[in-house]
Amino acid sequence: MVEESNLKLTGESRQKIVALKQLYPSPRSAVLPALHVVQEQFGYVPVPPMAEVADILEILHGEVEQVATFYRMYHQQPVGKFVVKVCDSISCYLRGSDELLAQGQQKLGVKCGGTTPDGQITLDKIECLAACGNAPCIQVNDEFIYDVTPAQFDAVLDELKRAKKNPYFVP
Ligand code: FES
Repeated sequence: MVEESNLKLTGESRQKIVALKQLYPSPRSAVLPALHVVQEQFGYVPVPPMAEVADILEILHGEVEQVATFYRMYHQQPVGKFVVKVCDSISCYLRGSDELLAQGQQKLGVKCGGTTPDGQITLDKIECLAACGNAPCIQVNDEFIYDVTPAQFDAVLDELKRAKKNPYFVP
């Protein structure tokens, strides 16, 4: 396994970030999509590739780190193959998202933010997913699932325990 301090962007990732930089009048505006490129490659945003992003965008390393640590969509640590996030903002909370989170923690045997020992599922919470009319909502990697009942949540977790690819992926 490669030490985190030796992690480097691939040539393809660097090219994508350079292309993103050209899309904006100010290179700093490309930080968010550039961090998605980093996360796509590593599954999270390690520090050394963040420094590479800063160098490509010609901004301070600290500026990239500030953005990466502000938004919960960027993972600071390695995560499981599937990241299940339960929205805990007000509409979802009023419709039982805290109970879903407790259910998930019990079923998977992990705390919020934790990953199952087999590396299959990380359970976390997230701020409003902008789908409040369909509360409670969860997110499986980048896909949303709406109006989630406890029985559905149970079924989702069971499916993800065995899945090789995200069964909720919408191309
Ligand atoms: S409060 Fe959960 S989607 Fe808005």
